[in-house]
Amino acid sequence: MLVKLAEIIKEADKKKYAIGAFNIFNLESAQAVVRAAKEMKSPAIVQVSETTINYAGLKTITKIVKSVAEEEARDIPIALHLDHGRSFRSIVECIQAGFSSVQIDASDLPLEENISLTKSVVNFAHQKKVWVQGEIGRVPGTHGKSDNQINSYKYTDPDEAGRFVKAAGVDTLAVAIGTTHGIMPGRINFPLLKKIRRVIDIPLVLHGASGESAASLKKSIKYGVREVNIDTELRLVFVRAMRKFLNDDFDKYDPRLVLASGREAIMAKVKEKIEQLGSADTI
Ligand code: G3H
Ligand code: ZN
Repeated sequence: MLVKLAEIIKEADKKKYAIGAFNIFNLESAQAVVRAAKEMKSPAIVQVSETTINYAGLKTITKIVKSVAEEEARDIPIALHLDHGRSFRSIVECIQAGFSSVQIDASDLPLEENISLTKSVVNFAHQKKVWVQGEIGRVPGTHGKSDNQINSYKYTDPDEAGRFVKAAGVDTLAVAIGTTHGIMPGRINFPLLKKIRRVIDIPLVLHGASGESAASLKKSIKYGVREVNIDTELRLVFVRAMRKFLNDDFDKYDPRLVLASGREAIMAKVKEKIEQLGSADTI
């Protein structure tokens, strides 16, 4: 069943585990995440990027997630979240379509402009009881092809983060603490995470978590990370599984079987992450 993000994050905060926020891009990936959550008796965040919205259509992808969550997992809390929303307009459209939480990623803007845009999103979203994730610092990798993974990194400054949270009124905060979008494992800067934790008491969100070890995920949970974003690893296993399926037998041409092999692979990966984040068997 679809629920508000607040419901599941508050519970995670109380019990000190994190919830996986898994990017989906079509029917099969949505089914994989929801089925994995059901099997693991865990809440899950199904998140959709603007790229997926452009690919599938906002109403279509929203209906797919809603219907899979309602038909296949009535008793499992699933939140539908907008990942890296860039504009006020696209966020409003997602909220109107039924998203239960949104991210406004204005991390490329100077601090004051980031605060101002984020605050306007918060004002709108809170009227609809929708939670907002803000971002401070910069986790590169989703900012266009020319994005340079190393040169464009901007670690979250704890003082700026404190000021941002207070001024913008966000519910969760995405921080840049060493991870990058993509499969490159980052080196999480735990001393920085601890400093951030000292000034911020809202749940923290770890972006770019593909490739991170179970041990560093666990440690980050200790210091307040409550949402862990996984995208690249899911896409990789999906495509790899389908490629293998097709290579193994040239006579198999049923597209449903091809897609199902990718769906199984995502499901296995999501289950592995749920186990690592400590949210299994909490429902
Ligand atoms: O917003 C999405 C995530 O931060 C995913 O990062 O591609 O490294 O898994 P990832
Ligand atoms: Zn991200």
